[in-house]
Amino acid sequence: MKYYLETYGCQMNEADSEIVAQIIERKGYRRTDEPQKADLILVNSCTVREKAESRAIARLSQFKGYKKDPEVKLGLLGCAVERGKDKIKEEYPFIDILLGPDSYREFDKILEEANYPYQNFSLSNKELYEGISPQRTSDLNGWISIMRGCNQFCSYCIVPYTRGRERSKPLDTILKEAEEIAQEGIPQITLIGQNVNAYDYADKGFGDVLEEVARIKDIERIRYISPHPSDFNTRMIEIMAEYDKICNHIHLPLQAGSNRVLEKMNRNYTKEEFLDLVENIRSIIPEVALTTDIIVGFPGEKEEDYQETLEVMEKVEFDNAFMFQYSSRPGTYAAKNMEDDIPYDIKNRRLEEVSSLQRKHSLEKNEQLIGQNKEVLIEGQSKKNKNEPVGRTEEDKLVIIKSGQPDKGEFINVKIKDIAGVSLFGTSLE
Ligand code: SAH
Ligand code: SF4
Ligand code: F3S
Repeated sequence: MKYYLETYGCQMNEADSEIVAQIIERKGYRRTDEPQKADLILVNSCTVREKAESRAIARLSQFKGYKKDPEVKLGLLGCAVERGKDKIKEEYPFIDILLGPDSYREFDKILEEANYPYQNFSLSNKELYEGISPQRTSDLNGWISIMRGCNQFCSYCIVPYTRGRERSKPLDTILKEAEEIAQEGIPQITLIGQNVNAYDYADKGFGDVLEEVARIKDIERIRYISPHPSDFNTRMIEIMAEYDKICNHIHLPLQAGSNRVLEKMNRNYTKEEFLDLVENIRSIIPEVALTTDIIVGFPGEKEEDYQETLEVMEKVEFDNAFMFQYSSRPGTYAAKNMEDDIPYDIKNRRLEEVSSLQRKHSLEKNEQLIGQNKEVLIEGQSKKNKNEPVGRTEEDKLVIIKSGQPDKGEFINVKIKDIAGVSLFGTSLE
């Protein structure tokens, strides 16, 4: 029996798919990259913005044709299922399996009993998928989900409804998973959680997790995502500075620059607090790379509010940013209580402007790297030129290597020689 599994959304979904793969493979299924050859076709979905959800569902609808063979089963997993519940079942009756993010252990039963259709949307206060070693898809990076769920309830965001409440994995379990990753020869660990620095288990906080994982010998790089600005403390930043192997990169989602909008978003910090945090981080780790997420066109966002987003961007000069137009998500506080009143062309113009400001900053940041030596973890070959290896610096910047043929998984020292657009070019110093 073969299964096909496609994943949309964030790193947590990537990690969940590795859990799903393990549960299914324990039942004797083998993975295929060709959906037309699979007995079980699964799409792990995201619903954070409307487009993300429609993309995942459209993909599964494309696979409907393969059901001419009645033995072929289609499953939709993840956040879109959790948001849509019975409505998805009504609208897409051809789907045989609907499972929310906390229900993947159900696959044991589903595959044994073959009782279709099957659905389970229940969220758990405990599920952390302990005891299931992920079927890892990368030999360069191992995910460890150290916590699941989110208690922040930003007013625009569907995640707290699709992922449930925060729960953290015991530190011992995290260290066991980290040891396994090290033993498999995977050089990098990424600690993940919807709100990763809210980690809290038996008096241990996120700083403790960072420090203990950093002490594991064979792990060479540690990253984490996504932290929330209001859950940082100085100790976490000091630990980052103390251990070389914790990458000097922080993804620090700003969302908006105006205090009025931040309050309506329920972000729990002001513009001033955000800027103080950036200053604190940079005073402890001067060479840190900062990236962010920005939403434009939140309900009621006035021109002067939006200008403040640009101002904060100017002050911080992020290395990179993911920028989005506000998308109303049914079920959230904002969707219920605020009118999605910013016209599409204004949202679009604001998005173009923040994107072009960010491009300018990314270029400036990259220019500053010219002449510097950086350690790069080789990921493979460049998409444009198959003969050129590419790798990533600890700041998460992609460097195209113009000399030498290092292997995937190798760490090499390179001198950054040039940039073209946002691409960096380096030569090997080995
Ligand atoms: N826990 C993560 C967020 C995950 S969602 C965090 O707080 O950083 C990733 C990003 O999607 C968010 O940071 C936000 O910028 C964006 N996003 C979430 N909901 C959105 C919505 N309704 N419309 C537009 N962008 C949204
Ligand atoms: Fe969503 Fe806010 Fe939680 Fe991030 S912190 S997942 S944006 S509710
Ligand atoms: Fe999407 Fe769910 Fe992640 S909504 S961003 S897959 S937590």
